[in-house]
Amino acid sequence: MVKKRTSIHGQWSSQWVFVLAATGSAVGLGNIWRFPYMAGESGGGAFIMLYIICVILMGTPIMAAEIMIGRRGRQSPLNTMRTLAAEGGHSRHWQILGILGMLAGFLIMSYYSVIAGWVLSYIFKTASGTFEAAAPDTVVKIFNDFTSNPWILLFWHSVFMVMCMTVTARGVKGGLEKAVRILMPTLFCLLLIMVGYAMSTDKFLDGMAYLLIPDFTTLAANFPEVFLNASGHAFFSLSIGMGAIMVYGSYLPTKTSIANATIAIATMDSVVAILASLAIFPLVFTYNLEPSSGPSLIFITLPIAFGQMPGGGLFGSMFFFLVMFAAWTSGISLLEPVVTWLVENKGMRRLKATIITGGIAWIVGIGTVLSFNHWAFSFTFAGLEKHGGIFDIIDILTANILLPLGGLIISIFVAWIMSKMSVKEELDMNEGLYKFWFFTTKYVASVGVGIIFLSQFGIF
Ligand code: PHE
Repeated sequence: MVKKRTSIHGQWSSQWVFVLAATGSAVGLGNIWRFPYMAGESGGGAFIMLYIICVILMGTPIMAAEIMIGRRGRQSPLNTMRTLAAEGGHSRHWQILGILGMLAGFLIMSYYSVIAGWVLSYIFKTASGTFEAAAPDTVVKIFNDFTSNPWILLFWHSVFMVMCMTVTARGVKGGLEKAVRILMPTLFCLLLIMVGYAMSTDKFLDGMAYLLIPDFTTLAANFPEVFLNASGHAFFSLSIGMGAIMVYGSYLPTKTSIANATIAIATMDSVVAILASLAIFPLVFTYNLEPSSGPSLIFITLPIAFGQMPGGGLFGSMFFFLVMFAAWTSGISLLEPVVTWLVENKGMRRLKATIITGGIAWIVGIGTVLSFNHWAFSFTFAGLEKHGGIFDIIDILTANILLPLGGLIISIFVAWIMSKMSVKEELDMNEGLYKFWFFTTKYVASVGVGIIFLSQFGIF
């Protein structure tokens, strides 16, 4: 048995706090903004069905593996991978996961912060009554005017980045732990109220049918693309494949059950995504909007609804406030792997490491800011017409390439490289569950992700 390590960055105060923090990382713009618009672009029910299959067969086993590796190594993802590989007499090149993960973290954070900036601005727009009784066309125009102004986008992008840096600089414990406890359940309740509102529209059943009944003929025609998008989104939404969950796992107390924590996080993540879609799609049909309108979807449908509801200004601003909060808890986890690495390897203080990491992500984010105005161009990828620019390229590069590649490396590492004894000891699952986990990770997840990954290069 290897001597237990401790992390120099601290430890969660309890298993519950870990679950909250990891759920905070998982639940974010991915659930409320990206999931609904990806589902709308990929035909609704079929996307959701494949998404759920990917979460169960790939996402959950890989998440458990990632948390387990993190707790075993107790360092930044790069150093953890290097240490665990060296322990089994393997090459230090396994640290590539840490390098790719840091790259993915920078890239995701760069655009995440821009979109979270939109959310920030919408808190104020809704609160000030901008959308009161506004016609759908007006709401669309407000969105277009907003995104065509790079200076405003840059301003909100900067605000959000500084918010994340402030928390990360102090360490993930402290204020965050307390805030997550209250705000996450509140977000959940507001989502339920939004679903309630959607139920009161005539098109609720149409929305439900669109989301829950897969259209197999269309699916058969677009299978590789829909599958690619659903699996990529599973990685993105669960925050796996880039070290964010691994670094959170490195602060996990030794006695915690990784299996229970993983199941809890993945379930909450999927439930929030489905609730958000149930709140949005009935409105799409009620107001004759395009389900495939892309990243603008929630910034158009929801304000229309808030404009029609009594007290919608207050309710809408609360809603966007909670989405901002969900994005915040995800944003800080995107910075964390790089910050821990700079602290460990460059001997930096946490504050300096955070300023450098956030600063670089902020600069890269300018590319996304300009994607919606001066540098906009369209192209087609995996059957989807993309109307952005650098934003779309970064989005595809991360969700469809870097995160699945990270997931593949993780599953190969735990199934073939790490010693069975350490894996078993660290996971500490009952025998049946362990066998199931091992089988799905070794064969289903790694082979599945491998095929998805190669299919993008036309190999399958
Ligand atoms: N899971 C987050 C979301 O759904 C995004 C994220 C991806 C966070 C990868 C950390 C790492 O919004």
